[in-house]
Amino acid sequence: MTWWKEAIVYQIYPRSFKDSNGDGIGDLPGIFSKLDYIQSIGVDVIWLCPIYQSPNHDNGYDISDYRQIMIDFGDMSDFDQLLEGIHERGMKLIMDIVPNHTSDEHRWFKASCESEDNPFRDYYIWRKGEMDKLPNNWPSFFSGDAWDYDEKTQSHYLHLFSKKQPDLNWENPKVRQEMYEIMHFWFKKGIDGFRMDVVSLISKLPGLPDSESNVFTEIISQYYANGPKVHKYLKEMHKEVFQHYDCMTVGEGPGITLDNALNYVGEDRNELNMVFHFGHMYIDNGPGGKYDPIPFDLVDMKKVFNAWDEKLAAKGWGSIFLGNHDFPRVVSRFGNDGLYWQESAKLIATLLLCMRGTPYIFQGDEIGMTNVAYQSIDEYRDIETLNSWKDAMLKGADSENFMKLVHQQSRDNARTPFQWNNSRNGGFSEKHPWLKSNDNFETINVEKQENDEHSILNYYRKMIEYRKQNPDLVDGNYQCYEVEHPELFLFKRWSDKNEYWVLLNFSENHHNVAMQFPQSISLEVNNYGEPNGINRLRPWEAKVLKV
Ligand code: GLC
Ligand code: CA
Repeated sequence: MTWWKEAIVYQIYPRSFKDSNGDGIGDLPGIFSKLDYIQSIGVDVIWLCPIYQSPNHDNGYDISDYRQIMIDFGDMSDFDQLLEGIHERGMKLIMDIVPNHTSDEHRWFKASCESEDNPFRDYYIWRKGEMDKLPNNWPSFFSGDAWDYDEKTQSHYLHLFSKKQPDLNWENPKVRQEMYEIMHFWFKKGIDGFRMDVVSLISKLPGLPDSESNVFTEIISQYYANGPKVHKYLKEMHKEVFQHYDCMTVGEGPGITLDNALNYVGEDRNELNMVFHFGHMYIDNGPGGKYDPIPFDLVDMKKVFNAWDEKLAAKGWGSIFLGNHDFPRVVSRFGNDGLYWQESAKLIATLLLCMRGTPYIFQGDEIGMTNVAYQSIDEYRDIETLNSWKDAMLKGADSENFMKLVHQQSRDNARTPFQWNNSRNGGFSEKHPWLKSNDNFETINVEKQENDEHSILNYYRKMIEYRKQNPDLVDGNYQCYEVEHPELFLFKRWSDKNEYWVLLNFSENHHNVAMQFPQSISLEVNNYGEPNGINRLRPWEAKVLKV
């Protein structure tokens, strides 16, 4: 098996991980100081969210220099030290690169604005015209139109995200070469791969036609993603860059579906190793998107997992994740962050670490960090949340109601400072952190869980160790049972030699599993201390059985 299939990935959101110099912002020396902790979890690969120079309108996903370290995070010597520290501990590093857009403060974009015949003009997507006549009706991911006007040349430029994130023109071979050289630059420093931000969006539909849909997820899949040249570009990228290194590549793939996934990750394709799809992450979104939520349905989620596993089984590879820096906290979203906080956080760990594919753990989920609920919108920092709020208020939404949606859906839920101990700001920073700490740091923190054998943290360690000892959990067969059961997620993993059963109770109810297990079956992992009968499941109980 290749290393990136066996790997367990730990995702770091550097701004919120550990502040080393008391300015309230997490940084690279902070991460360096916690490498022993990360290693102790048992993970193999660290994915660092963007750390390049950036004006931080979207916390680093708006890059102004791809070869410099963001001033808030440190400098290149801090980076070199971090990379060395990661490698010394036998771990690997993948960087987050943003190929679809840059910051409007990038020198390419500044030059591009200068004049229509500037050599950098074609690095971006411009349309000449009158200010109030937009080139098309596309909406941006962050509310409002996907176009902004530049007076100087009387043209609009395309930005699928904020207006400070202009989209690059991948039709231009120079843009592609620039990106490949940037990747070589980081590979030559010794990194082990890339997570590629919204890489499914880099090829634009010819003629940029008006969208005929108002449903944003449809607009993404029909107009923004999987453009006609995306595979040409990825193959070229593979040939020019990836094939020269023993690396891991995972593309973030809004709009990637079961029908086209293998075009990205098929073994014969020479494009990417894995993608992140969002099938399971959007199931609680209503027609109006995330701020129009519908109840979460476990049956739908199982169907998404089953279909993707089946699709990728023969000649692809999946990435298994339940949350990241763009979504609410997993325990608050799919588990129960009240009475069954501990059990449900462990159940989620069990799911994550027993599926086929490469698991991704987002920082803080290993201690069961929860959603936050700030009282005022002024406490929020995320551009997507703030823009949605403004938009909703302009449209006359009820502020109290919308605040509830923000509490449930904001990306800042996942971005609150990491909770290290019960001192000020959870030990994240001496000073006022850039985003307020979650009040519950006194009860939920690493230090407390280090000292508790039965903590969520120690359960993650145990589960990770168990997966390593039982590699059939990595690539063995997968079959889900009782798919239509609304509260149980039951599946089998097996090879010629071994057979495992994973029983997960996603509810507060007691259940009996209607399955005949062989006498020889043994209980290997359990999120409750005291075992009960093999077939019985208590609220949020998770069991791994081996035949
Ligand atoms: C991806 C990132 C997200 C960012 C967006 C624009 O979805 O994960 O955080 O805002 O791309 O770069
Ligand atoms: Ca700092």
